[in-house]
Amino acid sequence: MSAADGGFVADTADVDPRARLGAGTKVWQLAQIREDARLGADCIVGRGAYVGTGVVLGDRVKLQNYALVYEPARLEDNVFVGPAAVLTNDRYPRSTDPDGALKGGGDWEAEGVTVREGAAIGARAVVVAGVEVGRWALVAAGAVVTKDVPEFALVAGCPARRINWVGRAGVPLEPLPEPGEGPARYHCPRTGDRFEEHPAPDGGVRLRPVPTPSRDR
Ligand SMILES: CC(C)(COP(=O)(O)OP(=O)(O)OC[C@H]1O[C@@H](n2cnc3c(N)ncnc32)[C@H](O)[C@@H]1OP(=O)(O)O)[C@@H](O)C(=O)NCCC(=O)NCCS
Repeated sequence: MSAADGGFVADTADVDPRARLGAGTKVWQLAQIREDARLGADCIVGRGAYVGTGVVLGDRVKLQNYALVYEPARLEDNVFVGPAAVLTNDRYPRSTDPDGALKGGGDWEAEGVTVREGAAIGARAVVVAGVEVGRWALVAAGAVVTKDVPEFALVAGCPARRINWVGRAGVPLEPLPEPGEGPARYHCPRTGDRFEEHPAPDGGVRLRPVPTPSRDR
C-alpha cells in the first residue's frame, strides 16, 4: 500500500492516474476508480467497489464493499453507499443498437444518480438512472428506487416508497402530539431535533427542520 496524507491505495486497487483523490482517502483491495473521477477528502472506497469515469464524490463519502457507482453520478459530502448497492446510469439499457451493432460509450447518453448531503443507501439497493436522493434521506436495504426521494425520507421496497422520516442521525423520527390544526410534527429520539411536515407542489409531503434555540439549522 502507498500512503499520502493519511490515506492509502491498496496494491490490488486499480486507480486510473487521471482520477483525483482527496487527502486521507482510503481505497481498499480490488476497488476500481476510473479516469477523471474526483473523490474528496477522507473518503473510504471498500473492497471491490467501482467508481465510474468522471464520478464526483464529496468529502467523507463511504462506499462499502462492492458498491457500484456508475457515471455521471454525483455524491455530496457524508454520503453512505451500502455493500453491493448499485447507482445505475441507463434507464433503457441495450447492449446493441436495433441493427445488432455493439453500442460504444458514445452511442448512448448516461444519466447519473445524484445523492445529496448525508444521505445513505442501504445494502444491495438499486437506484435507477437520473434519480435524486435528497439530503439525509435513507434508502432501505434491497430497495429499488425509481423516483426522487425527498430529504429526510426513509424509503423501502420495490418500487421504493416512503415508510417513515429520519433525522440526521439516521434513526426514524417519532411523532409529537399535533397542535390542533397545525402540521404534523416529529422529533429525533437521538438528537432532539424537531421537524414538521408541509405540503409540496407535487401534491406530496415534505419534512422541514424546525429551528431550536440550541441547534439553529
Ligand atoms: C429500513 C430500515 C431502516 C427499517 O428499520 P426500522 O425503522 O427499525 O424498521 P422495522 O425493522 O421496525 O420495520 C418496519 C417495517 O418496515 C419493514 N422493513 C424493514 N426493513 C425493510 C427493508 N429493507 N425493505 C422493505 N421493508 C422493510 C419491516 O418488515 C416492517 O414492516 P411491517 O410494519 O409491515 O412489519 C432497516 O430495516 C434497513 O433496511 N436499514 C438499512 C440497513 C443497511 O442496508 N445497512 C447498510 C450497512 S451494512
